[in-house]
Amino acid sequence: MEVFTKKITLYHQVLKLNAEHKSIGLVPTMGALHAGHLSLIKKSKFENDVTIVSIFVNPTQFNDASDLQKYPRPIQTDMALLKNAGCDILFLPSENEMYSPSEKWDYEVGAIANDLEGVYRPGHFMGVTQIVYKLFTIIPAQKAYFGQKDYQQFLVIKHLVAHFNIPMVLVCCPIVREADGLALSSRNIHLSEPQRKKALLLHKTLSFIKNNYSKLPIDKLLQKVRTDFETEDDVQLEYIAFRDKYTLKPIVTINKAIVLIAAQVGNTRLIDNIMLD
Ligand code: PAF
Repeated sequence: MEVFTKKITLYHQVLKLNAEHKSIGLVPTMGALHAGHLSLIKKSKFENDVTIVSIFVNPTQFNDASDLQKYPRPIQTDMALLKNAGCDILFLPSENEMYSPSEKWDYEVGAIANDLEGVYRPGHFMGVTQIVYKLFTIIPAQKAYFGQKDYQQFLVIKHLVAHFNIPMVLVCCPIVREADGLALSSRNIHLSEPQRKKALLLHKTLSFIKNNYSKLPIDKLLQKVRTDFETEDDVQLEYIAFRDKYTLKPIVTINKAIVLIAAQVGNTRLIDNIMLD
């Protein structure tokens, strides 16, 4: 695995690979890699000649300084995992490499970014689009891989790509879960053992909805969900939403719906989702 820390060197390497007609898959990450990330790498390796993974904990997408500060950065473990997964190139830039001090980013994502995560993490998607645009410019890959767990992020990045006519295919890969259903997340390491058990309520809720949406009306489903969360201490429901899976607007037909959930478990914020079709 080759490691690049300078954008210009990597850019030239990618141009060289493109000239050699090598297909390139990009997996953008913030590190603290888990099986979810490894599934993206696996898919990219299957579909491309060369897989590039970026690790950069992007400060502009954190609206909470303590969240940024405590974000895990186990770089040695990550590098070992990447080598083992057959990653060809790791891009590991510093903050100075990615940002200049006075820089501004005022791309207006639109309605899709102002809802759900946008409400609870104001400015988050501005930061995501800012860094992803940079990564897509430095690494003109043919495909980029993202996880369904951050489904709203995936749709926001689709908008970005369409807006700037970026010739890249975006691939959304299924959520990877622990055996008991907990969606893998770099933030799970902040959960104590009792909190980890309580965190299962997110997946249990989504499974309950998936199993019952054809039998019960949405208001009844929501009533049960709210009661379940109210009776569980140390867990605060932030939102549970039935949305159109293409637009994230409130649903017209339940068949095209995705259900998205966010909750605070202790001090750890978790998100999850499930498609109803
Ligand atoms: O999903 C993530 O890990 C990040 O939001 C991303 C896409 C790498 C941008 O920093």
